[in-house]
Amino acid sequence: MKLRRFQDAAVAGARVLVRVDINVPMEDGEVLDDTRIRMSLPTIVELLEKGAQVILASHLGRPKGVRDEKYSLKAIVPVLSGLLNEALETKTLPKVSIKFLNDCLGYKILWAINQLDPGTVILLENTRFHREEKRNQRIFAMGMASLANCFVNDAFGSCHRAHASTEGIAHFRPAYAGYLVQREVAALSKAVEDPETPYYVVLGGAKISGKIDVIKKMLDVADSIFIGGAMAFTFAKALGCETGRSLIEEDRVTMARMIIENATQLGKTVHLPADVVVTDDIENPTRIETKPIDGMAPDDIGVDIGEVTISEYTSELAKAKTIFWNGPMGIFEKPEFAKGTTAIANALASADAVTIVGGGESAMAVRDAGVEDKITHVSTGGGASLEFVGGKSLPGIRILEEDNQNNPAYHLS
Ligand code: 3PG
Repeated sequence: MKLRRFQDAAVAGARVLVRVDINVPMEDGEVLDDTRIRMSLPTIVELLEKGAQVILASHLGRPKGVRDEKYSLKAIVPVLSGLLNEALETKTLPKVSIKFLNDCLGYKILWAINQLDPGTVILLENTRFHREEKRNQRIFAMGMASLANCFVNDAFGSCHRAHASTEGIAHFRPAYAGYLVQREVAALSKAVEDPETPYYVVLGGAKISGKIDVIKKMLDVADSIFIGGAMAFTFAKALGCETGRSLIEEDRVTMARMIIENATQLGKTVHLPADVVVTDDIENPTRIETKPIDGMAPDDIGVDIGEVTISEYTSELAKAKTIFWNGPMGIFEKPEFAKGTTAIANALASADAVTIVGGGESAMAVRDAGVEDKITHVSTGGGASLEFVGGKSLPGIRILEEDNQNNPAYHLS
């Protein structure tokens, strides 16, 4: 896949709208993990170095298409400003100030941008304060495009969304991939294009609903899939097991059964936990036990994979040549239920394989385990990395491909 790279565009003196994914976890207005902000810096710094005026756009959370201060990007400004100025300093570039504008399009915003010193970096308000964003509405995309001369998409984590600020806008201004998008695509392509085998996929997290398509596609390319997290209980239910009060998706049980049958027909294995850690109460447990997956009681809540499963999964993973992991094995935010997730992080770290981790929680688990530098690639995208590795074409990426005639940059070259 050949992408249009922003390094090849003439950006000196141009206004460049950069779609970043600074959808970072927040608590009480504080940024809990600044990884995504840090990852967006190389593109911003290079654009500033080349004399472009940078306008940043992003979403934060999932507001319902209306202004909701809880999701305002204003709260990100101090962290963004600190990190960006640190990065500029290491390159002996002058400091910049960040000007936050309280919308992401419209004549008032354009007027405000016109008043600013071109050296000021602009951060627009959350694009999802408008319902037109998710609908990828043409007029809305044009409105955002009119703020700049060209568009750089560096929001890899959102490239699976065909939204106005990730895809629509790229129809109206020459559009290029930022460094993060380029890096993610190059790294993830290793798991898509001819991966070395055995190729194992480890999937966890709460829901299979968002992952069904991908699981089906993964069965074509991967040799085995290892399931953990709450989604394991939906599979267990499909096999007729008692799942107690565990989180399951009733409406996906049939689908889970079909996935298992489909895998068997293809001669592939969907590994399910042999045993699980259960409790009576997640917040205030009075008992924590390990039970066989088919031995759960009606009062049990499954919260992690058990020792037998850890040992089976980790010894299998040691044989892999390519591993893709998305989603924790349990409620790993609670140390007493984090063992399975930590074990998978360590198994990837010690495997003699190309290892790719996608998804905020799995990435955090890898960092918590202190093994980030032993993983081939830790993606900033959850859904995006899953879909990419599952072989789907991501709308935000497709429009940046060199042969895409819908991108105005095509007609400039
Ligand atoms: C993510 O966190 O995966 C991306 O920022 C996309 O967010 P979304 O799932 O709310 O579209």
